[in-house]
Order: sequence, then structure tokens, then C-alpha cells
Amino acid sequence: MQTRTFLRPVLVGFLLALPLLSCSSRKVVVEREAAQRTRAEGFEEQFDANGVLIFDKANGARAYSMNCAGCHGDDGRKIHFTDSTSLQGLGQSSTNNVRRFWQIINFGDAERGMKAFEKEASFHDLLDITGFAQTLN
Ligand code: HEC
Repeated sequence: MQTRTFLRPVLVGFLLALPLLSCSSRKVVVEREAAQRTRAEGFEEQFDANGVLIFDKANGARAYSMNCAGCHGDDGRKIHFTDSTSLQGLGQSSTNNVRRFWQIINFGDAERGMKAFEKEASFHDLLDITGFAQTLN
């Protein structure tokens, strides 16, 4: 009897908190989706009229060696991707699908152990890294 009187408020409190919990996790998802859209839109503005990415190669090389080379190697081939056995390295990854590359470096791929760089590096450093990566083929 005593246990039940003790447990009841705990249970009621838990049930009341449930919608709050799912509400705040929903908010996180919505915010993340909005951030991804904003980043994607900002990225679209970085192409010239012929659809060629405009970037600073020297700054890309600098930012790449600072942020990425430690894991991916100077040539972008040190890590073998579990996603695709045919992918040789970051050069191919950025060349084959530059928008996917952009999303991965900004928001990471937690399941595969690739971290998000959205808050680690500036928009322009990430842009220059994306362009520089295409030269690693
Ligand atoms: C702490 C180590 C680490 C650092 C630093 C790191 N990465 Fe990664 N990266 C990984 C791992 C681990 C994976 C997933 C490998 C796998 O497929 O299992 C990955 C995957 C990727 C992929 C996915 C490739 C594809 O096409 O599927 C891209 C793109 C990428 N990294 C780019 C970068 C860039 C650019 C930087 C620098 C801004 C960077 N990474 C920094 C560890 C790292």
C-alpha cells in the first residue's frame, strides 16, 4: 500500500512529462531541418551561371589540412567509406555529389562516426574545403 502511494505521483508526473519530452525532441528535429535548408540554400548561391562552384583553393587546402587531413589523410583516401565500396576517397565523394558532401560535412553522419563541422568552421572555410576536395581526385 505504502509503495503504491509513493509511486502514484511519480507515475503521474512521468505521464504528464511525456508529451513535453516528445514535444522538445520534435522541436530539435524541426530546428535541425531548418538549419539544413538554410545551409543548402546558402550553398546554392556559391555556383556561377554555368553551375561551377566558386571557391578559394588555397584557403581550402589550408582549412582541409587543419580540419580533415588528420583523419582522411592529405589525399582524402585514408578512411575507407562503409557507405560505398567503390568510393576511393573525399575527392570522388565531393565530385560525384557535391550537395551530399556539403550536407555531410556541415551536419555530420553520426551513424558512421563523421562529426558535424557546421559550428567548428566558418561557412567559407567549409565551402573552400568542398571545392578543394574535388581537386583530390
Ligand atoms: C575525427 C575523424 C574525422 C575528421 C576530423 C573528419 N572526418 Fe570525415 N569521416 C570520418 C569517418 C569515421 C567517416 C565515415 C567512414 C565510414 O564510412 O565508415 C567520415 C566520412 C566522411 C564523409 C562521407 C563520404 C561519403 O561520400 O560517404 C565525408 C564527405 C567527410 N567525411 C568529409 C570530411 C571533411 C571535409 C572533413 C574536414 C572538414 C572531415 N571529414 C573530417 C572521420 C573524420
